[in-house]
Amino acid sequence: MSIQAPEAGWFRPPSGGERTWMGLALVWCLVMSAMMPFWHFKGQQNSTGESYTVEPVKFIERVERFVASNKVGEDKGIPIVEPAPGGDAYLLGRMWSWYPILKLKQGQTYRLHISSSDLQHGFSLQPVNMNFQVLPGYDHVLTLTPTMKGDYQVICNEFCGIGHHLMTGRIIVE
Ligand code: CUA
Repeated sequence: MSIQAPEAGWFRPPSGGERTWMGLALVWCLVMSAMMPFWHFKGQQNSTGESYTVEPVKFIERVERFVASNKVGEDKGIPIVEPAPGGDAYLLGRMWSWYPILKLKQGQTYRLHISSSDLQHGFSLQPVNMNFQVLPGYDHVLTLTPTMKGDYQVICNEFCGIGHHLMTGRIIVE
């Protein structure tokens, strides 16, 4: 079987309703494209885009130093860590937990470093629904100012294996 060339003169330019719908689709594509840079500057839940390469082993060392010097408690064996207001905070995603539990103060700005020690995870802060990719080898820094007190859940929204659904964490804002 071979591919047959269509008959000559097969093309008819779109007209009428087809033309209208194609026009609307094109306009909507342009609007959506414009919204991406718009929200980058205007949105309040965007990544700063600040990230650095880091070896997973080095990142784990930083997390452990952060935990050792700022630990204020423990919940089911997971340390609760309170970073200095305005300081750096660390969060490690790994199969299948978020480590440690962070305790932040409302109205203070933190530099939250997030990375993974194994494979790709998805940081999803609930119920506010802020979502960021978490990749091994990259220290993604989020400048974060909690505006509401509460006990927030962190879930993983990137399928990462058999324990994916168990990968939850906490951020407490006081
Ligand atoms: Cu980590 Cu899904």
